[in-house]
Amino acid sequence: MVRQVLILLGAPGAGKGTQAVRLADALSLPHVSTGDLFRENLSQGTALGEKAKGYMDSGALVPDELVVDMLFDRVGRDDCGGGYLLDGFPRTVAQAEALGSRLGADDRVRVIDIEVPDSAIVERITGRLSCGSCGAVYHRTFNPPAAEGSCDRCGGALSQRADDSAEVVEKRLAAYHEQTAPVAGWYRERVGIQTVDGTQSPDEVFSACRACAEEVAS
Ligand code: AP5
Ligand code: MG
Ligand code: ZN
Repeated sequence: MVRQVLILLGAPGAGKGTQAVRLADALSLPHVSTGDLFRENLSQGTALGEKAKGYMDSGALVPDELVVDMLFDRVGRDDCGGGYLLDGFPRTVAQAEALGSRLGADDRVRVIDIEVPDSAIVERITGRLSCGSCGAVYHRTFNPPAAEGSCDRCGGALSQRADDSAEVVEKRLAAYHEQTAPVAGWYRERVGIQTVDGTQSPDEVFSACRACAEEVAS
C-alpha cells in the first residue's frame, strides 16, 4: 500500500507544530510529534518519559535508540497505514537512516524545511502556549487563543512548556545546528527537499507547506 510520509524539518520554534496540526487536518494524516510523544510519556509517568526528561529539560536531544523505538511503535499502528506526518523526527542523520531502512519502495516521502532565523526564535518560544489535549500551539502576542488559557480547537487547558525558557532555547538551537541541520542535506541528496519561508504569517506558511505536501499525492 502506498503511504504518504510527510516530514517537517525546522529549528525549535520554526512552526512545525503549528503547521503540522493544520496540515494533518487538511490532508487527513495522523500528526506524529516525537516531542509530544515524550511529553505524553512524561505525564503518564512511564519509564521512557523519565529517561527523556533530563535531556529535554537541558535542551539536548534524547538518544537515538529511545526515539527510534518509540517512533516505530507509533507509526506501526493502524491509523498510520495510509501515511503520516512527522513533526520533530528525524532529528539526526542516524534517525533519518533508521527511518529510511523501514520505508518501502512504495512510500512517497516529501520533506519540507521551514526556515526561520535564530534571531526570531527566542521571542516565539518564550511566548508560546501549548494545548495539553490536542497539541495545538498558540502565542501570547502572535497567535493568541480566543479565550485566555483555553484551546480554540478542543477547549483543553493551555500551558507553557518546561523547556521554553530563554536559557534552554539557546541549548536547543545549538543542538539543532549541530545535529539536525545536517538532516536537510541528507534528504536533499536522496529525495529532495522543499524549503518554506517560516517568517511569513502562519496562514502564508500553511499555504506554502500545503502546496509542497500535495505534490506527494500527485
Ligand atoms: P519538540 O517538541 O519537537 O520541540 P522543538 O523541535 O524544539 O520544536 P518546538 O516544538 O519548540 O517548535 P515548533 O517548530 O513546533 O514551533 P511551534 O509551531 O510550536 O522537542 C522537544 C524536545 O524533545 C527536544 O528538545 C528533544 O529533547 C526531544 N526530542 C523530540 N524529538 C526528538 C528526536 N527526534 N530526537 C531526539 N530528541 C527529540 O511555534 C513556536 C511558537 O511560534 C508558537 O508560539 C507559535 O504560535 C509561534 N509561531 C508559529 N508560526 C508562526 C509564524 N508564522 N509567525 C509568528 N509566530 C509563529
Ligand atoms: Mg513543536
Ligand atoms: Zn486543544
